[in-house]
Amino acid sequence: MQELSVRHLLGIKDITPQDIQLIFETADNFKDVLNRPIKKVPSLRDITIANVFFENSTRTRLSFELAEKRLSADVINFSSSSSSVKKGETLLDTVNNILAMKVDMIVMRHSSPGAPHFLSRHINANIVNAGDGTHEHPTQALLDTFSIRERLGDVAGKKVVIIGDILHSRVALSNIFALQKLGAEVMVCGPITLLPKHIKELGVKVELDVRKALAWCDVANVLRIQLERQQMKYFPSLREYTLYYGIDKKLLDSLDKEIVLMHPGPINRGVELSSDAADSHHSIILNQVENGVAIRMAVLYLLASKQ
Ligand code: CP
Repeated sequence: MQELSVRHLLGIKDITPQDIQLIFETADNFKDVLNRPIKKVPSLRDITIANVFFENSTRTRLSFELAEKRLSADVINFSSSSSSVKKGETLLDTVNNILAMKVDMIVMRHSSPGAPHFLSRHINANIVNAGDGTHEHPTQALLDTFSIRERLGDVAGKKVVIIGDILHSRVALSNIFALQKLGAEVMVCGPITLLPKHIKELGVKVELDVRKALAWCDVANVLRIQLERQQMKYFPSLREYTLYYGIDKKLLDSLDKEIVLMHPGPINRGVELSSDAADSHHSIILNQVENGVAIRMAVLYLLASKQ
């Protein structure tokens, strides 16, 4: 059996193109399972997984929980807002107490970049990073690139623009790594204040004009403005952001070609995307969510075999 090169999925930066292909091929099989009347396999019947979320989530938490249940794992859910973290318990004590209950794998979302990397140096269980602050969100990038492959046949050679708040986005960084490892050309587009100063060092193109970016690309992955991570004003108003960077159906229809429109969610409708664009035939947003379950099944299954 082929194996991943890593014991934990901490970031796309740490994995190889071969790892990504293995995850995709495994996810293809699990997607077939998910389309059967009985959507469950016994693969992780003896494994217990804790979903440890220190930050809000809808898609990622539910998608991991469903993936774990479809693999027949035992699942426990931890949310920091209703936990003893509020009484001053440290991250390591919290996780060690969870592991003392014979838990095998930890899926963790945390607001601090590097929190899962820190844990990986102190515990033995496999760790999956479900988003660490502004750093990485590896399973999001895997499901995004898997969805591009599904829609366009391949990721290699495709032109993908990531539009919006690149500065605060873990989705952007993980997507840049994944797209480049799979041979895509990557552009970032947004107000100059929302682009990291040294972003070109990652080998991406930079474009400030959203119309030019859309004219260049095969795929546009549109991001939300992460107001909760912004300590200062990066642009005059949301209204102005929408005027210059908002994407609507009229703008998509004005292109002389079809493009694929993506968004990791949650969407702020009427800000970065209008409803008529988000719900148009260009959009694969709900396909991304559907594919998230198969991708997370693949990641958990492959990591469990590395215990
Ligand atoms: N895409 C994503 O991470 O969404 P959630 O924050 O709802 O998990």
